[in-house]
Amino acid sequence: MLDVGDLSLSQWNTALEDSGEGASRQCKRVTAISLEVARLSQLPRHLEPLIERVAILHRSKDFGSIALRRLAAEMELVDPQAAICPQPDLAELESILLLLDGKPAPGAAIHCRQVADIVRMCTALDEQLVAQPLDYKPIDTILDELHTFAVFEGFDPDLVNCLRQLRCEGPGLTSNWARLPVQAKIAQTVIRCLGSEDECEISDVEKLAASDPVLAGALIQVANSTIYSPYSRISRLREAISYMGTVTARKVLLAASVRPLFASAGLRRLWTHSLQMALLCSALGKQSGIVGSEEGLLIGLVHDVGSLAVQTLSGATLERYSRLVEKGCPPVYVEQSLFGRDHGEIGSEILSLWSFPARIVEAVRFHHQSERSESPVASMLYLAEFWSGQDEDLPSFVRIRECTVRTGISIESLATAHNRASALNVLGSVA
Ligand SMILES: [Fe+2]
Ligand SMILES: [Fe+2]
Repeated sequence: MLDVGDLSLSQWNTALEDSGEGASRQCKRVTAISLEVARLSQLPRHLEPLIERVAILHRSKDFGSIALRRLAAEMELVDPQAAICPQPDLAELESILLLLDGKPAPGAAIHCRQVADIVRMCTALDEQLVAQPLDYKPIDTILDELHTFAVFEGFDPDLVNCLRQLRCEGPGLTSNWARLPVQAKIAQTVIRCLGSEDECEISDVEKLAASDPVLAGALIQVANSTIYSPYSRISRLREAISYMGTVTARKVLLAASVRPLFASAGLRRLWTHSLQMALLCSALGKQSGIVGSEEGLLIGLVHDVGSLAVQTLSGATLERYSRLVEKGCPPVYVEQSLFGRDHGEIGSEILSLWSFPARIVEAVRFHHQSERSESPVASMLYLAEFWSGQDEDLPSFVRIRECTVRTGISIESLATAHNRASALNVLGSVA
């Protein structure tokens, strides 16, 4: 099994590029941000296809020379998709590519220089965001530096103001969020009543389940699910708990207590991901000794609670957020660019409001910026996010390596824990 520690940074980057992921993903991100800036700078809309072609051709290493890139552009003209859009002038395209390479382009039209400036600036922003694991900077600092960069490089500093205009208020954590802790309190009660790792009596589990109809219903539902397929229908709590065992019953109660947070339509995918993360964190926690099995389960269930808040956005903010994500920017990248903080930071504020333990709040806060915290729980959570394949942020070799060192969790043990967690798919029956 491959251990990430065996790969050098250059090997990792080569592997990414060989898969075609590195270059194309970067192109998509730069294109998405460039189009937003173009709109804010009131560039005519008919130039948007030109921006898309420039952003893609500029970064593609396969088209290293102007001649080859020109050929690629010509080939694109026969693409039926491209034919819908106005065809770009090849001389314009070539001028812009020269400007992007820092070469003179005599006679280039003003709009060619504007397009080149936008793509250059958005490429510089992207590079700064990619470098965050090595050199973290708040988004406002990055924008200040881009302003200086623009002056130094001789392109319009006003474009940086367009990037500033992209900034908007993130989800507000007002009274709506303060009212939600009913479910979170139940989850904490489940943990407190049942203890962390000790075996508990059937009567303890039964008493807790009986205190809330949602919890009771979940136990009966899971006991009668196709996974257990009882000979005859189980309708009593005690029977359900003995049938599945107290350890599984505790996990079902915990998942059922958090499930109502994800009740809205459209949050099914986030719930499924949270369940998978819960099982993985539970297995990783037990295996590494970083957290107890049930605490790991709870952390996984609530780790993306900030994403729930992001889903409450509306109007122009939601439209901008959705456009950027649909065009290929990872959610964390968009959240940092628009709100100046990611869903981990937003989620930690929510968990603080709900009086969650400080170490869970810290882990959730830094689960996409693990290098900013000493918490091994944050690092474990980051590794689990990475392994889940959810693509919430940019993959980072440096961050993965640091997290494996800090937690002692190797890539191989991640795979083992994942397999073990998959075997516990009984929680998927908590509908
Ligand atoms: Fe996640
Ligand atoms: Fe996340």
